[in-house]
Amino acid sequence: MRVLSGIQPSGRLHLGNYFGAMKPQIELQEAHDCFYFIATYHALTSLNDGKLIEEYTREVALGYLALGLDPRRTVFYRQTDVPEVTELTWILSCVTPMGLLQRCHSYKDKVAQGLLPNHGLFAYPVLQAADILIVKPKFVPVGQDQKQHIEIAQDIQTKFNQAFGCEILVRPEPLIREEVAVIPGVDGRKMSKSYDNAVELFCPEKQARKRIMSMVTDSTPVESPKDPAKCNVLALLRLFADADETRDWEERYRRGGTGYGEVKKRLFELYSTVLGPARKRYQELSAHPEEVDRILADGARRAREVAAETMREVRQACGLTIARV
Ligand code: ADP
Ligand code: TRP
Repeated sequence: MRVLSGIQPSGRLHLGNYFGAMKPQIELQEAHDCFYFIATYHALTSLNDGKLIEEYTREVALGYLALGLDPRRTVFYRQTDVPEVTELTWILSCVTPMGLLQRCHSYKDKVAQGLLPNHGLFAYPVLQAADILIVKPKFVPVGQDQKQHIEIAQDIQTKFNQAFGCEILVRPEPLIREEVAVIPGVDGRKMSKSYDNAVELFCPEKQARKRIMSMVTDSTPVESPKDPAKCNVLALLRLFADADETRDWEERYRRGGTGYGEVKKRLFELYSTVLGPARKRYQELSAHPEEVDRILADGARRAREVAAETMREVRQACGLTIARV
């Protein structure tokens, strides 16, 4: 089955990105035909700093490869390397009702956070629909916050096929793993780079330790029983620990006598051992930028083949002829 997903290079990668998106995506490559890309144009809607976009693009590329994306199996590319995507974006814009975009929570949230309400931010879901529809995937694995964007892509797919009386574009389905739909940050809200509450994946170990040790907890005294369902330290620990260890901590919470400091220490230990090998690979790969460039160029070639074929069909359906030059 064909699968596609993307991540914007708009900040440093964190545990929410890893458990909510990258890990489940990488697991899918064993059995599926996966296309994963770095959404460089989407990042421009929130960042106007070329140096930072370049730096974060490299971080996403190195991060995916270090975490186990296999570029022989998976087509891994930058959105900017497939210019057909922006061509399709315009065509899809012409069948996208304004009301569909006006209802989008992500636009409203970003404007509320202080981003400029420019056209790129408003039209963001049309670009995302083009990313998806051009590759014709059956599934799009994402975190919960992206569900509405995938539903918009479904609506746009239907509108296009209806408008041009064809079956060219294929309906994509979101694939959301409920158990990792919303990873909490150090303050208990959804972990996000915009809330300054993230534990980064590839920062110096000291910095990660400091972040974990400063996690917000309630003020229940050490000796009192605690509710294991209400602690964000335990919520993160569950992601790393095996089932026996998780059960053991849950019992200790209910019994009382366990302090949050002890759980935080164990969480940091797990962070360091579980992510250790990927963090080491990240450092090794950073010393070989030419190897990463080669991988992205190969991914771009494979993605463009698929995109060019969809665009041939789309242009024909729309009556758009282009000159052979
Ligand atoms: P951020 O919220 O930090 O800006 P992005 O929006 O760039 O992160 O997210 C990239 C991917 O990671 C998306 O698929 C998103 O659903 C997933 N993701 C981000 N944060 C979380 C989280 N806290 N829990 C689950 N998934 C997340
Ligand atoms: N909007 C997604 C995010 O913020 C990134 C993205 C862009 C994406 N294009 C996509 C995700 C296509 C899935 C499919 O995380």
